[in-house]
Amino acid sequence: MRTAPEDTTFVLKIFTLFTELVEYISMAISSDHYSLVCAIDFGTTFSGIAYSLKREYRDDPTKITVHDWSAPSSVQISYKTPTTILLDSKRKFVAFGYEAESKYAEFAEDEEHDDYFYCRRFKMLLYDTLRKGVERLTMNTKIKDITEKKEMLAIDIFSLSIKYFRDLMVYTVDKKGIGVKTTDIRWVLTVPAMWSDPAKQFMTEAAQKAGISRDKLMLALEPEAASIYCSRLPLAKLEGAGGLGVFEAGKKYLVLDAGGGTVDITVHEVTKDNNLKELEKASGGDWGGTSVDNDYKKKLMEVVGDDFMEDFRLKYTGEYIELFRDFEMKKRTPLSENQTMVTMRMPGMLSGFYEDRKDRKLREAIKNSIYNKSMRWEGDKLRITPAFFKNFFSLACVGIVDHVRDLLLEKLKYHKIDTILMVGGFSESPILQKRIREEFPDHRIVVPNEAGLAVLKGAVLFGHNPNIISERVAKYSYGIASFEKFDHTIHKKEKKDNKYCKDVFDVHVRKGSRLVFNDEIKSKKEYEPNRDDQMVMDFDVYLSEEEDFPKYVTDPGCQYLGTLSVDLPKPVKGKKRGVFICMIFGGTELCVKAVNRSNNAETSATFNFLGNQP
Ligand SMILES: Nc1ncnc2c1ncn2[C@@H]1O[C@H](COP(=O)(O)OP(=O)(O)OP(=O)(O)O)[C@@H](O)[C@H]1O
Ligand SMILES: [Mg+2]
Repeated sequence: MRTAPEDTTFVLKIFTLFTELVEYISMAISSDHYSLVCAIDFGTTFSGIAYSLKREYRDDPTKITVHDWSAPSSVQISYKTPTTILLDSKRKFVAFGYEAESKYAEFAEDEEHDDYFYCRRFKMLLYDTLRKGVERLTMNTKIKDITEKKEMLAIDIFSLSIKYFRDLMVYTVDKKGIGVKTTDIRWVLTVPAMWSDPAKQFMTEAAQKAGISRDKLMLALEPEAASIYCSRLPLAKLEGAGGLGVFEAGKKYLVLDAGGGTVDITVHEVTKDNNLKELEKASGGDWGGTSVDNDYKKKLMEVVGDDFMEDFRLKYTGEYIELFRDFEMKKRTPLSENQTMVTMRMPGMLSGFYEDRKDRKLREAIKNSIYNKSMRWEGDKLRITPAFFKNFFSLACVGIVDHVRDLLLEKLKYHKIDTILMVGGFSESPILQKRIREEFPDHRIVVPNEAGLAVLKGAVLFGHNPNIISERVAKYSYGIASFEKFDHTIHKKEKKDNKYCKDVFDVHVRKGSRLVFNDEIKSKKEYEPNRDDQMVMDFDVYLSEEEDFPKYVTDPGCQYLGTLSVDLPKPVKGKKRGVFICMIFGGTELCVKAVNRSNNAETSATFNFLGNQP
């Protein structure tokens, strides 16, 4: 005979099992369920992947596994691989990263490279679309290969690249016997904080095409990810922290994420509950490490001529790649105190080809150039003075310093920010670090160990806890083009359209507003269809960079962003069919939710930022 207490225990046990089962089933079907976070840091110059299990994260958040690539012997760094893709004549994937570089160089050597599509540093295209005067980013935007003779849809290049990382990760999880199903992986993709909404949407579209389901995908903003990582690091791993609590509640600091393409800046304050709050909207420019390479290239071209460099690139593509790979090594090697010259290894064919083409020796060309005091040709090497070498960094340093100065000493001076956190690969540069220290002597400059991996590792942490960034600042004012009843005391005459005023910028959020994570209430507005038979309402969404939001969508500084389509319920006689539209601003992507007024039911609402302007 069983006793009552045992019976109770038995019932309790069944009940617990049952609730665990219900919880398990609901987690399994919910998009929030995951056991592993995998982050893809898709960089302009270098990319990487890293992961951590949910249970590992609970025990030690900094326990993150970074995938390493077998790099060529001349390159020491292998936690990231070059953002370079190689496709065959049918545009099928061949290789990515170091492997793509080596394979293409081999094909070029055997003169078998003509049919291949080789493309590098293509992420910059998505930043360039931010600049005014450049065509809109759409699903039809094309990218040229290294020869600039072939082109391909950008979306395909991005999705093939992301697919490479996805498949590699899935293979790794499988091979290591980690015991995680592919459907249990939460994917995090990094994007610069200052990217536009179309560029972010482009990345999510590419990821979906690569086989990552939308509900398992998150975007992490690069400087935020780096800031999260540093805030979780032990002090010993933060050079310059000086034993002081950089990340104590109430502390404010500027995050300088200097990558290959862009320098992305945000300002954070540590909240009481140890989360991070953005104090100033993200900003930055194209002063990344690539601008150093570009300056080197520009100066070489001034000596040998643009036409010669172009011919060399096309004829000896493998050697051309090697030329800049060697520069990458030199760029990463600190100059010693009493170094007299920096030696650049030059491709074997360069001087011979120059002589054939130009009918004079390369040595002579250098001697007769404006840089004859700063460089000379010796054997098969180019030797340049350290001062000239440092000069390659000048443009990048000036761009960064001016921008940071403007933020710290002008725009944000009332915040009294005393710390600069330097992250991103380019922040590892002793030349850049020295310059920042010299220009901001009253600020504490903190650089984490392996600054170049901070974004990648931080993206993993963000995947586990996206609420860490509790508050952000709106970069633009967002609004919907709408009609209002015409009132001649407030509206312009030329905007009159029957009884209405057209082109009104119906503001959903103002630039500079504080956005609390997932705070959807702020932008809730009601709209009504014009016609009774209408089943979908399409809205034109606009943004403005002006300090004060515009009155009309045609005002200066106002830009067309894209469309918002909302499904309407079936018409019922005598019933109005209004919809409430809530734009959700606090996250890393702009989201939207629409609710029918008639029945309070949520209805489908989607943004399309990648279409052409109507
Ligand atoms: N020790 C170093 N000294 C100088 N430059 C460096 C050093 N280490 C890396 N870099 C430069 O930093 C850049 C790469 O940084 P990172 O990997 O953070 O950029 P990315 O992720 O490719 O670019 P982005 O974040 O802009 O998309 C390259 O230009 C590289 O040459
Ligand atoms: Mg990066």
